[in-house]
Amino acid sequence: MARKDEYYNRAKQEGYRARSAYKLQQLDETANLLHRGASVVDLGAAPGGWLQVAAEEVGPEGTVVGVDLQRIKSLDAENVETIRGDMTDEDTKSKLLDLVGEDGADVVISDMAPNMTGEYSLDHARSVYLARQAFEVAMDVLDAGGDLVVKVFDGQDLQDLKDDIDPEFQYVREVRPQASRKQSSELYLVAKGRITAPVSVGDELELDITDVGNEGDGIARVDGFTLFVSGADEGETVRVRVTDVKPKFGFAERVDDS
Ligand SMILES: C[S@@+](CC[C@H](N)C(=O)[O-])C[C@H]1O[C@@H](n2cnc3c(N)ncnc32)[C@H](O)[C@@H]1O
Repeated sequence: MARKDEYYNRAKQEGYRARSAYKLQQLDETANLLHRGASVVDLGAAPGGWLQVAAEEVGPEGTVVGVDLQRIKSLDAENVETIRGDMTDEDTKSKLLDLVGEDGADVVISDMAPNMTGEYSLDHARSVYLARQAFEVAMDVLDAGGDLVVKVFDGQDLQDLKDDIDPEFQYVREVRPQASRKQSSELYLVAKGRITAPVSVGDELELDITDVGNEGDGIARVDGFTLFVSGADEGETVRVRVTDVKPKFGFAERVDDS
């Protein structure tokens, strides 16, 4: 049997159900994910180490919903609910959406891992498949500005997965927490700041400037989304190109002959 390591011993001493609790703590320290009052969805949550960490960080005013194929022993925390189910099943996804409700989630974290066969390419492919399920759920529940963290085993399909996640967020990067076992090929894709804007960088459109911001930029709205247009005045109609998109607002430049 593998020798028990530092994180295993710490988890025992500190009352965490799994050594993986420290991975979430380290991911949180690196990427600033869990805030007081946040609503968190935790996929592949058994036995509950991440649930414990998330519940502590969001506090009683936040909520955490955990899903796993395995039964999760109930936690001593009122802000945690769990669902037993398979995240590749539509039924489980709709139960989760019902529980999260219309307010949506601020963070989706997934530590889902397939049963290992030892055949590297198969284990990799299965882990990418689970990561894609988590990404799909995130697209259904995450609010604008929300974050996604998803475990995946390194391998040939990683880049495609990352490329698919990337345009939906401000950025995505790979993080390998120290608490991951040295020999493990696991890593976490951390995607920060979900973008739900109705426009993308490079789009050209004609807009009415309806307001002026504090910095003097013109403000236009596209389906309720705010675009700041430099050098445009209230009352003008201008042709613009979108230059930057943040979760809750974007920037555009005039492309008409002003
Ligand atoms: C590494 S463990 C998660 C540990 C957890 N983060 C913790 O801190 O306690 C991976 C979990 O993913 C779950 N899992 C794998 N495939 C799943 C699926 N299709 N739906 C739901 N859970 C799944 C497994 O049952 C397992 O409990």
